[in-house]
Amino acid sequence: MGNPVLEAISGRRSIRAYKPDQIKKEELEILLKAAQEAPSAANLQPWHYSVLQNAEMIAEIQEESLKQMNEKGKDIFFKAPTVIFISCDPVSRWGRHDVGITAENICLAAHAIGLGTVMLGRAEPAFNGPKGDHFAKLLKFPEGYKYAVAISVGYPAGSKEAHPIAPGRIDYIE
Ligand SMILES: Cc1cc2nc3c(=O)[nH]c(=O)nc-3n(C[C@H](O)[C@H](O)[C@H](O)COP(=O)(O)O)c2cc1C
Repeated sequence: MGNPVLEAISGRRSIRAYKPDQIKKEELEILLKAAQEAPSAANLQPWHYSVLQNAEMIAEIQEESLKQMNEKGKDIFFKAPTVIFISCDPVSRWGRHDVGITAENICLAAHAIGLGTVMLGRAEPAFNGPKGDHFAKLLKFPEGYKYAVAISVGYPAGSKEAHPIAPGRIDYIE
């Protein structure tokens, strides 16, 4: 039998199609626990998770992001029933770094229990435009925290191949 951690790392994919069913509360709790078990510089945990399961609000944020990018009719959240927005303390020196780790913990935990995820940078424009403060309030970002990344979560309605590994990214210095 293989190693479950390595299998989760190898098996995770960005999932861009979801079943409409909402995920279970117990599954969500598993993801949020794994998220908060991530390491962070000086253990500052400079993150906050806003779990959004309101389809109208998800659509509103999508519409605003597309507007800010001058795009139309594209799917940013891929109709996932749950989107987790991670906001971050912008003055934390390693904040974005820490967010990357907690976000990947969510994606790996989700994969391990049969859920699909995709990290979303494309939701950010909604938070940088004129409605940014409105959305930050709606999602209960802590005072001063900024959007860092969002993660669509749901039961996968499709799969994909592993991404090709880019060559030439390793040097061995002896
Ligand atoms: C920080 C970050 C932002 C991303 N933003 C998006 C996004 O907005 N939309 C999207 O479809 N995929 C997004 N992705 C997913 C990447 O496209 C994906 O990870 C990459 O193509 C490799 O595929 P894999 O995740 O299936 O291995 C993002 C990934 C990361 C790490």
